[in-house]
Amino acid sequence: MKEKIKLEGVSFKYSRRESPAIKDICFSLKSGEFVLLTGPAGAGKSTFANCLNGVIPHFQKGEMGGNIYLEGVNTKDLSTGKIATKVGSVFQDPEGQIICAQVDEEIAYGLENLGLPPRVIAERIDEVLHLVGIEDLRNRATNTLSGGQKQRVATAAVLAMEPKVLILDEPTSELDPQGTEQVIQLLHRLNREKNIAILLIEQKVEDAAPYADRLVVLREGEIIREGAPAQVLMELSSQREVGIEIPQFVNLAKLMDAKKSIPLDILQAKTMVRNYLRGWEI
Ligand SMILES: Nc1ncnc2c1ncn2[C@@H]1O[C@H](COP(=O)(O)OP(=O)(O)OP(=O)(O)O)[C@@H](O)[C@H]1O
Ligand SMILES: [Mg+2]
Repeated sequence: MKEKIKLEGVSFKYSRRESPAIKDICFSLKSGEFVLLTGPAGAGKSTFANCLNGVIPHFQKGEMGGNIYLEGVNTKDLSTGKIATKVGSVFQDPEGQIICAQVDEEIAYGLENLGLPPRVIAERIDEVLHLVGIEDLRNRATNTLSGGQKQRVATAAVLAMEPKVLILDEPTSELDPQGTEQVIQLLHRLNREKNIAILLIEQKVEDAAPYADRLVVLREGEIIREGAPAQVLMELSSQREVGIEIPQFVNLAKLMDAKKSIPLDILQAKTMVRNYLRGWEI
């Protein structure tokens, strides 16, 4: 798989802060890959995301160490406009991301900046409103939207740019369980059908883990675990102090002392229990 983004020994210290928010991070996001990033509050997740979308080093004041590459080019040498055509970003605070008065204008904004013809813009607006399931919000004033609606509009506006990489920083934090499930299913589809590489930051590991190729766990600015989601979660289940909510199916597997296959969804859990009852090795 081709590397889309690569962080090589990246550290970042905010101005007037004693210690760095992230330290010596080595990470790569490959073409078509779905990576889930989690970690306790203040672990450095948003800082990490901002290294992938160009906010660091272009906008955020502070001291950066190491190198960040986008498709092999150091992001220091790329304009933020150029980065934005390749990397779409949904920020933790959708409030600050929405700038236009009306939802359709918000989605059109980035496309107009690309100089796309009005017909193409109109088609893309239809497509992403449908994709995200917010057709009914098309003509709404953005200042009348709820937090969850703003998150969906921000996601739609980013998708309209058709990026090959998508970075989402807790895009479901304002959504109820059903809304969360819908957004994660949407990301799964985009990843599989359009081959978009995704870095999803989520506290709700249980919802997203079944779809992730890889789980990365950040703590105090460092990657403490990385690998297949089920394996990483099983390892973490014995260390509660890490501050990550372990999915119920992983806890069940731990109770049953499973060694072979750790379930992440109900079907896999049923299979594990059935095999256990048959006296098979699990
Ligand atoms: N703009 C800033 N200026 C100074 N310090 C900052 C700034 N943004 C974040 N920090 C600090 O950097 C560290 C990492 O913050 P970051 O927001 O990256 O963590 P996070 O894992 O995203 O947290 P959360 O789960 O709360 O979103 C924290 O100690 C935080 O206080
Ligand atoms: Mg954050």
